[in-house]
Formats: sequence, structure tokens, C-alpha cells
Amino acid sequence: MRTAVYPGSFDPLTNGHLDIIRRGTRLFDRFVVAVLENEGKSPLFSVAERMELITRCTAGIPAVEVHSFSGLLIDFMRRFNANVVVRGIRAVSDYEYELQMALMNRELSPNVETIFMLPAVEYTYVSSRLVKEVFRLGGDVARLVPPPVLESLKARLPVTVGG
Ligand code: PNS
Repeated sequence: MRTAVYPGSFDPLTNGHLDIIRRGTRLFDRFVVAVLENEGKSPLFSVAERMELITRCTAGIPAVEVHSFSGLLIDFMRRFNANVVVRGIRAVSDYEYELQMALMNRELSPNVETIFMLPAVEYTYVSSRLVKEVFRLGGDVARLVPPPVLESLKARLPVTVGG
């Protein structure tokens, strides 16, 4: 059984994340989406809300499991008997941060391998941070997030349209 862990903040899930999940599930039997409990980052959605959105948006993809974690990623991986981390890389600018994390995880747990996957080219500029900012300012993000996420953004964020 090949297990991969796809960790992140997912605040909220974007179509870029969903694309990586779809691609990842073609490579692994079990694809564990691990939502970081990062209250320090003042997330827009609670961990439970983020997990629920991911669960709803991946309902048709059987290999997916959704869990949350706090503490070190490698400790979570040990509990799941997993040694592959999947991360999506969009542009070269992502690489430095990802390289540091991958090498730190390898330092902490030498048998952990990080695999970088590329999202579909139309999502290479999409990030949760920008989706929230654009939505908040009245921009249309309908093509960038799955419908349940769009509904949750509408319910959560007041839209400020500039004059
Ligand atoms: O979506 P993000 O915010 O870029 O994801 C970052 C994440 C969750 C992958 C990273 O912050 C993480 O793994 N945090 C857990 C703490 C940890 O293990 N740190 C040491 C390895 S860098």
C-alpha cells in the first residue's frame, strides 16, 4: 500500500490544491490530506471547517483521507506509516521555501521523501492568500476555488468594493 501525505494550511482549498490531489491519487493508493492546526497564522476558516470543505470537494476521489495535525509533520507521518510527502510547486519562487522544508524533514527523518508536483498551468498563480484578498475586494474567484469553498467565502467574508 503506497501512502502519501499532502500537508498544508488549506485556508481555504483552491482548485490548485484539488488538481494536485487528483494527480496525486493516480500515483498513490492512499492519499492523506493533512491540515495544519496553525492558529498562529490567524486562519479564516477553522481546522474543522477546512477539513469539511476538503472532504466535500474530494468526495468523488476514493483514495483521499482528510486529517489534521499539530506539531511536526514527520511525527504525523510516522503515525500513518507514510514516508512520502507531496507538495505542489507553482513557480520558482516556491522552490526555496519548499527546499528548506524538504531538507529539514529529511534531516529529522531520513526515510521521508518529498515529491514535488506541478498543478495544471491555469492554476500556477493561484494561492489561498490571493483568493481571500481578491474575494474580499470584490473580485471574481469562481474559477479558482471549488463551489463549496466559494459558498463558504460568501458566507464568511464581507466584500469591500473600492470606489
Ligand atoms: O500550506 P502551507 O502553509 O505552505 O503548508 C506548510 C506546512 C503545513 C507543510 C508546514 O508548515 C509544516 O509541515 N508544518 C508542520 C511543522 C513542521 O513539521 N515543521 C518542520 C518541517 S519544515
